[in-house]
Amino acid sequence: MGCFGCTGESSKRSERSNSSSIKRNDQTRPTSGSLKVKPVANLKKEETSNDDQLSLDVKNLDLVDEVSNSARNNGKLAQTFTFEELAAATGNFRSDCFLGEGGFGKVYKGHLDKINQVVAIKQLDPNGLQGTREFVIEVLTLSLADHPNLVKLIGYCAEGDQRLLVYEYMPLGSLENHLFDLPRDRQPLDWNTRMKIAAGAAKGLEYLHDKMKPPVIYRDLKCSNILVGEGYHPKLSDFGLAKVGPSGDKTHVSTRVMGTYGYCAPDYAMTGQLTFKSDVYSFGVVLLELITGRKAIDQTRDRSEQNLVAWARPMFKDRRNFSRMVDPLLQGQYPVRGLYQALAISAMCVQEQPNMRPAISDVVMALNYLASQKYDPETDPVQGSHKNSSRSGQKKNNDRSAGDDSPDRNAEGEING
Ligand SMILES: Nc1ncnc2c1ncn2[C@@H]1O[C@H](COP(=O)(O)OP(=O)(O)OP(=O)(O)O)[C@@H](O)[C@H]1O
Ligand SMILES: [Mg+2]
Repeated sequence: MGCFGCTGESSKRSERSNSSSIKRNDQTRPTSGSLKVKPVANLKKEETSNDDQLSLDVKNLDLVDEVSNSARNNGKLAQTFTFEELAAATGNFRSDCFLGEGGFGKVYKGHLDKINQVVAIKQLDPNGLQGTREFVIEVLTLSLADHPNLVKLIGYCAEGDQRLLVYEYMPLGSLENHLFDLPRDRQPLDWNTRMKIAAGAAKGLEYLHDKMKPPVIYRDLKCSNILVGEGYHPKLSDFGLAKVGPSGDKTHVSTRVMGTYGYCAPDYAMTGQLTFKSDVYSFGVVLLELITGRKAIDQTRDRSEQNLVAWARPMFKDRRNFSRMVDPLLQGQYPVRGLYQALAISAMCVQEQPNMRPAISDVVMALNYLASQKYDPETDPVQGSHKNSSRSGQKKNNDRSAGDDSPDRNAEGEING
Protein backbone atom coordinates (compact mmCIF):
# COMPACT_ATOMS: atom_id res chain seq x y z
CA MET A 1 0.00 0.00 0.00
CA GLY A 2 2.72 2.43 -0.80
CA CYS A 3 3.32 4.90 1.94
CA PHE A 4 0.52 3.53 4.08
CA GLY A 5 1.44 1.75 7.19
CA CYS A 6 4.64 3.70 7.60
CA THR A 7 5.06 5.16 11.01
CA GLY A 8 6.33 8.65 10.43
CA GLU A 9 5.12 11.67 12.31
CA SER A 10 2.28 12.98 10.23
CA SER A 11 3.19 16.62 10.34
CA LYS A 12 6.68 16.23 9.01
CA ARG A 13 7.70 15.92 5.43
CA SER A 14 9.41 12.84 4.20
CA GLU A 15 11.36 11.83 1.21
CA ARG A 16 12.81 8.71 -0.25
CA SER A 17 14.54 7.74 -3.40
CA ASN A 18 12.28 6.19 -5.97
CA SER A 19 12.93 2.57 -5.21
CA SER A 20 14.05 2.41 -1.62
CA SER A 21 12.00 2.55 1.53
CA ILE A 22 11.17 5.83 3.20
CA LYS A 23 14.30 7.10 4.79
CA ARG A 24 13.33 9.60 7.37
CA ASN A 25 10.34 10.88 9.15
CA ASP A 26 11.64 13.91 10.92
CA GLN A 27 13.00 16.63 8.84
CA THR A 28 13.45 19.33 11.38
CA ARG A 29 17.06 19.18 10.26
CA PRO A 30 17.25 17.89 6.72
CA THR A 31 19.99 15.36 6.15
CA SER A 32 22.75 16.48 3.90
CA GLY A 33 22.98 14.71 0.59
CA SER A 34 19.23 14.24 0.35
CA LEU A 35 19.28 16.69 -2.52
CA LYS A 36 22.17 17.27 -4.83
CA VAL A 37 22.56 20.95 -4.14
CA LYS A 38 25.55 22.96 -3.19
CA PRO A 39 25.72 24.10 0.41
CA VAL A 40 24.49 27.61 1.02
CA ALA A 41 27.86 28.42 2.50
CA ASN A 42 29.43 27.82 -0.91
CA LEU A 43 27.23 30.32 -2.63
CA LYS A 44 28.92 33.55 -3.56
CA LYS A 45 27.96 35.88 -0.78
CA GLU A 46 29.86 39.07 -1.03
CA GLU A 47 28.31 42.19 -2.50
CA THR A 48 25.11 40.51 -3.52
CA SER A 49 21.76 42.20 -3.25
CA ASN A 50 18.65 40.23 -2.34
CA ASP A 51 17.73 39.84 -6.01
CA ASP A 52 21.19 38.76 -7.04
CA GLN A 53 21.31 36.25 -4.22
CA LEU A 54 18.07 34.69 -5.44
CA SER A 55 19.45 34.46 -8.97
CA LEU A 56 22.58 32.83 -7.59
CA ASP A 57 20.47 30.34 -5.67
CA VAL A 58 18.52 29.53 -8.84
CA LYS A 59 21.73 28.99 -10.74
CA ASN A 60 23.41 26.93 -8.05
CA LEU A 61 20.38 24.75 -7.57
CA ASP A 62 20.06 24.12 -11.28
CA LEU A 63 16.48 25.26 -11.24
CA VAL A 64 16.41 26.78 -14.69
CA ASP A 65 13.83 24.30 -15.95
CA GLU A 66 11.44 24.76 -13.08
CA VAL A 67 8.90 27.45 -12.36
CA SER A 68 11.78 29.87 -12.34
CA ASN A 69 11.80 30.71 -16.01
CA SER A 70 8.26 31.99 -16.04
CA ALA A 71 8.53 33.90 -12.80
CA ARG A 72 11.75 35.61 -13.71
CA ASN A 73 10.75 36.28 -17.27
CA ASN A 74 7.51 37.81 -16.08
CA GLY A 75 9.49 40.05 -13.78
CA LYS A 76 6.89 39.39 -11.10
CA LEU A 77 9.18 38.61 -8.19
CA ALA A 78 7.92 39.61 -4.77
CA GLN A 79 9.61 42.57 -3.12
CA THR A 80 12.78 42.21 -1.12
CA PHE A 81 13.43 43.12 2.50
CA THR A 82 16.67 43.44 4.40
CA PHE A 83 17.35 41.16 7.32
CA GLU A 84 17.45 44.25 9.51
CA GLU A 85 13.92 45.23 8.47
CA LEU A 86 12.59 41.77 9.29
CA ALA A 87 14.43 41.60 12.59
CA ALA A 88 12.95 44.97 13.52
CA ALA A 89 9.47 43.78 12.49
CA THR A 90 9.62 40.86 14.93
CA GLY A 91 11.43 42.59 17.81
CA ASN A 92 14.50 40.58 16.86
CA PHE A 93 12.51 37.35 16.53
CA ARG A 94 11.15 37.67 20.05
CA SER A 95 9.61 34.56 21.54
CA ASP A 96 6.24 36.25 22.03
CA CYS A 97 6.08 36.83 18.26
CA PHE A 98 6.62 33.11 17.62
CA LEU A 99 3.71 31.55 15.71
CA GLY A 100 4.88 28.02 15.05
CA GLU A 101 7.58 25.85 13.57
CA GLY A 102 7.66 23.43 10.67
CA GLY A 103 10.29 21.26 9.11
CA PHE A 104 12.09 24.18 7.56
CA GLY A 105 12.10 26.90 10.12
CA LYS A 106 10.33 29.08 12.64
CA VAL A 107 7.47 31.44 11.86
CA TYR A 108 7.03 34.80 13.61
CA LYS A 109 4.36 37.46 13.58
CA GLY A 110 5.62 40.92 12.86
CA HIS A 111 4.72 44.42 11.78
CA LEU A 112 6.51 45.87 8.78
CA ASP A 113 6.59 49.63 9.18
CA LYS A 114 7.73 50.11 5.59
CA ILE A 115 4.42 48.82 4.26
CA ASN A 116 2.44 49.25 7.47
CA GLN A 117 1.24 45.65 7.47
CA VAL A 118 1.08 42.76 9.92
CA VAL A 119 2.93 39.83 8.40
CA ALA A 120 4.11 36.29 9.12
CA ILE A 121 7.85 35.82 8.66
CA LYS A 122 9.31 32.36 8.13
CA GLN A 123 12.99 32.07 8.86
CA LEU A 124 14.57 29.09 7.16
CA ASP A 125 17.16 27.06 8.98
CA PRO A 126 20.38 28.35 7.39
CA ASN A 127 22.01 24.92 7.69
CA GLY A 128 19.29 23.12 5.77
CA LEU A 129 20.39 22.51 2.19
CA GLN A 130 16.92 21.58 1.19
CA GLY A 131 15.60 24.77 2.66
CA THR A 132 17.40 26.84 0.06
CA ARG A 133 15.87 24.91 -2.80
CA GLU A 134 12.41 25.14 -1.31
CA PHE A 135 12.92 28.79 -0.54
CA VAL A 136 13.64 29.53 -4.18
CA ILE A 137 10.74 27.43 -5.50
CA GLU A 138 8.42 29.09 -3.01
CA VAL A 139 9.44 32.60 -4.04
CA LEU A 140 9.15 31.78 -7.72
CA THR A 141 5.86 29.89 -7.52
CA LEU A 142 4.12 32.40 -5.29
CA SER A 143 5.43 35.29 -7.33
CA LEU A 144 3.56 33.85 -10.30
CA ALA A 145 0.41 32.90 -8.41
CA ASP A 146 -2.52 35.13 -7.59
CA HIS A 147 -5.66 33.58 -6.16
CA PRO A 148 -7.87 34.24 -3.13
CA ASN A 149 -7.23 30.69 -1.87
CA LEU A 150 -3.44 30.90 -2.01
CA VAL A 151 -1.50 32.69 0.71
CA LYS A 152 0.13 35.87 -0.54
CA LEU A 153 3.87 36.15 -0.51
CA ILE A 154 4.64 39.75 0.31
CA GLY A 155 8.35 39.48 -0.05
CA TYR A 156 11.53 37.75 0.91
CA CYS A 157 15.02 38.28 2.18
CA ALA A 158 18.07 36.46 0.80
CA GLU A 159 21.11 37.96 2.46
CA GLY A 160 24.20 35.85 2.92
CA ASP A 161 23.08 32.66 4.64
CA GLN A 162 19.75 34.15 5.72
CA ARG A 163 16.62 33.11 3.85
CA LEU A 164 13.31 34.53 5.04
CA LEU A 165 9.84 34.57 3.54
CA VAL A 166 7.27 37.26 4.32
CA TYR A 167 3.62 36.27 3.99
CA GLU A 168 0.32 37.92 4.65
CA TYR A 169 -0.61 37.14 8.24
CA MET A 170 -3.42 34.63 8.59
CA PRO A 171 -5.08 35.44 11.92
CA LEU A 172 -6.62 32.02 12.60
CA GLY A 173 -3.47 30.02 11.95
CA SER A 174 -3.53 26.59 10.36
CA LEU A 175 -6.49 24.24 9.90
CA GLU A 176 -4.59 21.67 11.94
CA ASN A 177 -5.00 23.89 15.01
CA HIS A 178 -8.76 23.95 14.56
CA LEU A 179 -9.28 20.26 13.91
CA PHE A 180 -7.07 18.30 16.27
CA ASP A 181 -6.11 18.43 19.93
CA LEU A 182 -8.27 21.46 20.59
CA PRO A 183 -7.53 23.52 23.68
CA ARG A 184 -10.48 23.80 26.06
CA ASP A 185 -11.40 27.29 24.99
CA ARG A 186 -11.58 26.49 21.27
CA GLN A 187 -14.88 25.55 19.66
CA PRO A 188 -14.78 22.66 17.21
CA LEU A 189 -15.42 23.64 13.61
CA ASP A 190 -19.05 23.21 12.62
CA TRP A 191 -20.17 21.32 9.53
CA ASN A 192 -20.72 24.39 7.35
CA THR A 193 -17.27 25.74 8.12
CA ARG A 194 -15.65 22.41 7.34
CA MET A 195 -17.31 22.33 3.93
CA LYS A 196 -16.40 25.96 3.29
CA ILE A 197 -12.75 25.21 4.06
CA ALA A 198 -12.79 22.09 1.87
CA ALA A 199 -14.33 23.99 -1.06
CA GLY A 200 -11.84 26.86 -0.72
CA ALA A 201 -8.83 24.56 -0.49
CA ALA A 202 -10.05 22.70 -3.59
CA LYS A 203 -10.34 26.00 -5.45
CA GLY A 204 -6.75 26.87 -4.54
CA LEU A 205 -5.64 23.52 -5.90
CA GLU A 206 -7.72 23.95 -9.04
CA TYR A 207 -5.97 27.25 -9.66
CA LEU A 208 -2.56 25.57 -9.42
CA HIS A 209 -3.58 22.67 -11.69
CA ASP A 210 -5.77 24.33 -14.27
CA LYS A 211 -5.15 28.07 -14.29
CA MET A 212 -1.47 28.59 -13.66
CA LYS A 213 0.93 28.76 -16.55
CA PRO A 214 2.84 26.54 -16.33
CA PRO A 215 0.49 24.30 -14.31
CA VAL A 216 1.82 23.35 -10.92
CA ILE A 217 1.56 20.19 -8.81
CA TYR A 218 1.51 21.26 -5.17
CA ARG A 219 2.83 18.06 -3.55
CA ASP A 220 2.33 19.19 0.04
CA LEU A 221 -1.39 19.43 0.67
CA LYS A 222 -2.15 18.79 4.33
CA CYS A 223 -4.01 20.42 7.20
CA SER A 224 -1.01 22.32 8.52
CA ASN A 225 -0.55 23.94 5.12
CA ILE A 226 -4.10 25.22 4.93
CA LEU A 227 -4.11 28.57 6.71
CA VAL A 228 -7.31 30.26 7.78
CA GLY A 229 -8.22 33.92 7.80
CA GLU A 230 -11.22 35.93 8.99
CA GLY A 231 -14.49 34.06 8.47
CA TYR A 232 -12.52 30.82 8.16
CA HIS A 233 -11.45 31.68 4.65
CA PRO A 234 -8.84 29.05 3.71
CA LYS A 235 -5.60 29.58 1.80
CA LEU A 236 -2.99 27.07 0.75
CA SER A 237 0.56 27.80 1.89
CA ASP A 238 4.05 26.32 1.56
CA PHE A 239 4.98 25.89 -2.07
CA GLY A 240 8.54 24.73 -1.56
CA LEU A 241 7.75 21.28 -2.95
CA ALA A 242 5.72 22.57 -5.91
CA LYS A 243 6.62 21.08 -9.24
CA VAL A 244 5.75 22.08 -12.77
CA GLY A 245 3.22 19.56 -14.06
CA PRO A 246 3.63 17.35 -17.13
CA SER A 247 3.15 18.98 -20.50
CA GLY A 248 2.01 17.71 -23.89
CA ASP A 249 0.93 14.08 -23.93
CA LYS A 250 2.76 13.26 -20.74
CA THR A 251 0.71 12.33 -17.69
CA HIS A 252 3.44 12.45 -15.09
CA VAL A 253 6.77 13.93 -14.13
CA SER A 254 9.37 11.64 -12.63
CA THR A 255 10.86 12.95 -9.44
CA ARG A 256 12.14 11.86 -6.08
CA VAL A 257 9.31 11.18 -3.69
CA MET A 258 8.61 14.01 -1.31
CA GLY A 259 5.61 14.91 0.71
CA THR A 260 4.16 13.99 4.06
CA TYR A 261 3.32 10.59 5.50
CA GLY A 262 -0.34 9.82 5.38
CA TYR A 263 -1.04 12.34 2.62
CA CYS A 264 1.22 10.94 -0.07
CA ALA A 265 -0.50 9.07 -2.92
CA PRO A 266 0.51 5.39 -2.96
CA ASP A 267 1.24 5.37 -6.71
CA TYR A 268 3.59 8.33 -6.37
CA ALA A 269 5.25 6.82 -3.29
CA MET A 270 5.83 3.54 -5.15
CA THR A 271 6.98 4.83 -8.51
CA GLY A 272 8.10 8.44 -8.12
CA GLN A 273 5.72 9.34 -10.93
CA LEU A 274 4.07 12.55 -9.90
CA THR A 275 0.73 13.48 -11.43
CA PHE A 276 -2.00 16.03 -10.75
CA LYS A 277 -3.88 13.09 -9.26
CA SER A 278 -1.22 12.82 -6.54
CA ASP A 279 -2.54 16.15 -5.23
CA VAL A 280 -6.13 14.95 -5.59
CA TYR A 281 -5.27 12.00 -3.35
CA SER A 282 -3.82 14.33 -0.69
CA PHE A 283 -6.93 16.47 -0.98
CA GLY A 284 -9.07 13.37 -0.32
CA VAL A 285 -7.09 12.75 2.87
CA VAL A 286 -7.62 16.34 4.04
CA LEU A 287 -11.34 16.08 3.31
CA LEU A 288 -11.45 12.87 5.29
CA GLU A 289 -9.72 14.61 8.19
CA LEU A 290 -12.28 17.41 8.03
CA ILE A 291 -15.16 14.93 8.12
CA THR A 292 -13.81 12.55 10.73
CA GLY A 293 -11.66 14.82 12.92
CA ARG A 294 -9.01 12.08 12.69
CA LYS A 295 -5.41 12.72 11.70
CA ALA A 296 -3.95 11.24 8.51
CA ILE A 297 -1.56 9.30 10.73
CA ASP A 298 -2.30 8.94 14.42
CA GLN A 299 0.03 6.74 16.38
CA THR A 300 -1.96 7.14 19.56
CA ARG A 301 -4.75 4.99 18.10
CA ASP A 302 -5.00 1.21 17.78
CA ARG A 303 -2.85 -0.17 14.99
CA SER A 304 -5.80 -0.78 12.68
CA GLU A 305 -6.87 2.85 13.03
CA GLN A 306 -3.53 4.64 12.80
CA ASN A 307 -3.70 5.26 9.07
CA LEU A 308 -6.83 7.21 8.24
CA VAL A 309 -7.26 6.00 4.65
CA ALA A 310 -6.60 2.37 5.57
CA TRP A 311 -9.20 2.69 8.32
CA ALA A 312 -11.75 4.46 6.13
CA ARG A 313 -11.53 2.38 2.93
CA PRO A 314 -13.41 -0.69 4.17
CA MET A 315 -15.96 1.54 5.89
CA PHE A 316 -16.76 3.38 2.64
CA LYS A 317 -18.37 0.19 1.37
CA ASP A 318 -21.37 0.29 3.68
CA ARG A 319 -23.24 3.49 4.39
CA ARG A 320 -24.33 2.13 7.75
CA ASN A 321 -20.76 2.87 8.84
CA PHE A 322 -20.95 6.50 7.88
CA SER A 323 -22.38 7.86 11.08
CA ARG A 324 -19.50 6.16 12.93
CA MET A 325 -16.99 7.91 10.72
CA VAL A 326 -18.07 11.47 11.39
CA ASP A 327 -16.20 13.60 13.93
CA PRO A 328 -17.80 13.07 17.36
CA LEU A 329 -17.07 16.72 18.13
CA LEU A 330 -19.85 17.61 15.69
CA GLN A 331 -22.22 16.09 18.24
CA GLY A 332 -24.54 14.84 15.55
CA GLN A 333 -24.88 18.29 13.99
CA TYR A 334 -24.44 17.46 10.34
CA PRO A 335 -26.71 16.78 7.37
CA VAL A 336 -26.94 13.06 6.62
CA ARG A 337 -27.02 13.54 2.90
CA GLY A 338 -24.18 16.06 3.06
CA LEU A 339 -22.12 13.57 5.05
CA TYR A 340 -22.70 10.85 2.47
CA GLN A 341 -21.76 13.16 -0.35
CA ALA A 342 -18.64 14.45 1.37
CA LEU A 343 -17.54 10.88 2.16
CA ALA A 344 -18.24 9.87 -1.44
CA ILE A 345 -16.00 12.67 -2.72
CA SER A 346 -13.16 11.75 -0.37
CA ALA A 347 -13.54 8.05 -1.26
CA MET A 348 -13.15 8.89 -4.95
CA CYS A 349 -10.11 11.08 -4.29
CA VAL A 350 -8.23 8.46 -2.27
CA GLN A 351 -8.72 5.64 -4.75
CA GLU A 352 -5.61 3.56 -5.25
CA GLN A 353 -5.60 3.96 -9.03
CA PRO A 354 -4.76 7.56 -9.95
CA ASN A 355 -6.83 7.50 -13.12
CA MET A 356 -9.92 6.60 -11.08
CA ARG A 357 -9.59 9.79 -9.03
CA PRO A 358 -11.58 12.81 -10.23
CA ALA A 359 -9.98 15.92 -11.67
CA ILE A 360 -9.80 18.74 -9.14
CA SER A 361 -12.28 20.80 -11.20
CA ASP A 362 -14.92 18.12 -10.60
CA VAL A 363 -14.11 18.10 -6.90
CA VAL A 364 -14.54 21.89 -6.81
CA MET A 365 -17.94 21.63 -8.46
CA ALA A 366 -19.14 18.97 -6.02
CA LEU A 367 -17.82 20.81 -2.98
CA ASN A 368 -19.23 24.16 -4.08
CA TYR A 369 -22.62 22.51 -4.11
CA LEU A 370 -22.05 20.85 -0.74
CA ALA A 371 -20.83 24.09 0.83
CA SER A 372 -23.92 25.89 -0.45
CA GLN A 373 -26.20 23.44 1.39
CA LYS A 374 -26.16 25.07 4.81
CA TYR A 375 -26.89 22.96 7.85
CA ASP A 376 -28.68 24.69 10.71
CA PRO A 377 -28.72 22.76 14.00
CA GLU A 378 -31.64 24.90 15.20
CA THR A 379 -33.97 23.62 12.52
CA ASP A 380 -32.32 20.53 11.02
CA PRO A 381 -32.31 17.12 12.69
CA VAL A 382 -29.44 16.26 14.99
CA GLN A 383 -28.12 12.77 14.32
CA GLY A 384 -27.57 9.65 16.41
CA SER A 385 -27.29 9.55 20.17
CA HIS A 386 -27.08 13.34 20.25
CA LYS A 387 -30.66 13.64 19.01
CA ASN A 388 -32.18 14.20 22.41
CA SER A 389 -29.48 16.26 24.01
CA SER A 390 -30.22 19.94 24.35
CA ARG A 391 -28.82 22.01 21.56
CA SER A 392 -30.07 25.36 22.81
CA GLY A 393 -27.32 27.93 22.76
CA GLN A 394 -25.05 25.44 21.06
CA LYS A 395 -25.50 26.57 17.54
CA LYS A 396 -21.89 26.58 16.73
CA ASN A 397 -19.44 29.10 15.61
CA ASN A 398 -18.34 30.40 12.39
CA ASP A 399 -21.04 30.67 9.78
CA ARG A 400 -24.24 31.96 11.28
CA SER A 401 -25.73 33.01 8.01
CA ALA A 402 -26.98 29.51 7.40
CA GLY A 403 -30.36 29.31 5.78
CA ASP A 404 -31.92 25.91 5.31
CA ASP A 405 -32.11 24.96 1.71
CA SER A 406 -30.68 21.53 2.37
CA PRO A 407 -32.00 18.38 0.71
CA ASP A 408 -34.23 15.76 2.27
CA ARG A 409 -32.80 14.14 5.29
CA ASN A 410 -34.16 10.98 6.84
CA ALA A 411 -33.22 9.11 9.92
CA GLU A 412 -29.63 8.09 10.21
CA GLY A 413 -28.53 5.47 7.71
CA GLU A 414 -31.22 6.23 5.17
CA ILE A 415 -31.02 8.67 2.38
CA ASN A 416 -33.09 9.60 -0.59
CA GLY A 417 -31.33 10.20 -3.87
N1 LIG B 1 1.03 33.25 7.01
C1 LIG B 1 0.85 32.78 8.24
N2 LIG B 1 0.02 33.41 9.10
C2 LIG B 1 -0.18 32.94 10.35
N3 LIG B 1 0.42 31.84 10.84
C3 LIG B 1 1.25 31.16 10.05
C4 LIG B 1 1.52 31.59 8.71
N4 LIG B 1 2.39 30.70 8.15
C5 LIG B 1 2.64 29.78 9.10
N5 LIG B 1 1.98 30.04 10.25
C6 LIG B 1 2.01 29.26 11.50
O1 LIG B 1 3.27 28.67 11.64
C7 LIG B 1 3.15 27.24 11.75
C8 LIG B 1 4.34 26.58 11.10
O2 LIG B 1 4.23 26.70 9.69
P1 LIG B 1 5.17 25.91 8.73
O3 LIG B 1 4.61 26.03 7.37
O4 LIG B 1 6.56 26.39 8.93
O5 LIG B 1 5.16 24.43 9.24
P2 LIG B 1 4.12 23.25 9.08
O6 LIG B 1 3.17 23.54 7.96
O7 LIG B 1 3.52 22.97 10.42
O8 LIG B 1 5.03 22.03 8.69
P3 LIG B 1 5.79 21.79 7.33
O9 LIG B 1 7.16 22.33 7.49
O10 LIG B 1 5.76 20.33 7.19
O11 LIG B 1 5.03 22.53 6.25
C9 LIG B 1 1.82 26.93 11.10
O12 LIG B 1 1.27 25.75 11.59
C10 LIG B 1 0.98 28.15 11.47
O13 LIG B 1 0.42 27.97 12.74
MG1 LIG C 1 3.51 24.49 6.37
